[in-house]
Amino acid sequence: MDKEKVKTRSYSMSKAYKIAVIPGDGTGPEVIAEGIKVLNAASDRFGFKLNLTYYDFGGERYLRTGEILPDGAIAELRKYNAIYLGAIGHPDVKPGILEKGILLRLRFELDQYVNLRPVKLYPGVDCPLKDKKPEHIDFVIVRENTEGLYAGAGGVLKKGTPDEVAVQESINTRKGVERCIRYAFEYCKKRNKMKKLTLCGKTNVLTYAFDLWERTFHEVAREYPDIKADYAHVDAITMWFVKNPEWFDVIVTDNMFGDIITDLGAMIQGGMGIAAGGNINPEGVSMFEPIGGSAPKYKGMNVINPLAAICAGGMMLDHIGEEKSGKTIENAAMEVTGKHLKSLAAGKMGYSTTEVGDLTVKYVSEI
Ligand code: IPM
Ligand code: MN
Repeated sequence: MDKEKVKTRSYSMSKAYKIAVIPGDGTGPEVIAEGIKVLNAASDRFGFKLNLTYYDFGGERYLRTGEILPDGAIAELRKYNAIYLGAIGHPDVKPGILEKGILLRLRFELDQYVNLRPVKLYPGVDCPLKDKKPEHIDFVIVRENTEGLYAGAGGVLKKGTPDEVAVQESINTRKGVERCIRYAFEYCKKRNKMKKLTLCGKTNVLTYAFDLWERTFHEVAREYPDIKADYAHVDAITMWFVKNPEWFDVIVTDNMFGDIITDLGAMIQGGMGIAAGGNINPEGVSMFEPIGGSAPKYKGMNVINPLAAICAGGMMLDHIGEEKSGKTIENAAMEVTGKHLKSLAAGKMGYSTTEVGDLTVKYVSEI
């Protein structure tokens, strides 16, 4: 062991983090198991401790007990340094119950007001865009995560009749919009790459909501003279993601648009197998997850790609203050895509789920 390593280890040995682990549904438990292997490898190498507490929230528990989230669960989760989530969604449960009752409830009640989704093409990964290479695809989407159409405002009248009326309103508060935009400017500054922040909106049609977004954006931009404040309509941005992804550095947008463009982002970085995200409350407890969902058809087959969950684990370590470990996990994932995987798709990687986890562990310990 060299001097540097010894120093790091003895200095941070005292550090311990409490992590709540929610493996969840479908392939969630399989990918989280690999993620935990990798997190433990990082904790061994860099000398900090992770105290893990598992929670069985998800479809199975709901079907067994009728309970979505037990009383007191949210209060209990507030005590952790972070939450590590697999996937929520079960084929035998009506769509919406678990998503709203667990995932969205946690995001809202823990006030995780930013959904941070990096879009980065790793070495060796097949990009569906012709001639685009890792140097062309490297941006981050900051999605507002507690308001907009997701707030649940609206209602229904005369349900089931020919006169039925359904209203679903987008809630945008000055406070909610501003804190998200501020986070995006700060993130862009810290990232220190192109120093360009793009607001993704629809100012030509949604003239109430995106007027608030646009005004707030330009007001906050004055505090960041070094960052180029850029704008794109959401429909145009889907076009640019395909044609000129290299234009983007950091993008900030509302909840619904963010949901849509981050799935497109995941595809241009090679698919759901690699797409990780963080639900961030900078002043509270944040939650990290692969964004691909529970993929029930691959459950228990040891074929799903765990890299998205592994990278979400890396983001979690970065967030709690173990930046070096976070970076090492990302670098290890890049070694795995660059040197090993034939594809990122489930069943086509040339390796099993557990083998991909083992390979990543090897690189985390070595590089
Ligand atoms: C996501 C998912 C969720 C969302 C669903 C499962 C509620 O699609 O994390 O992007 O819409 O936010
Ligand atoms: Mn989504």
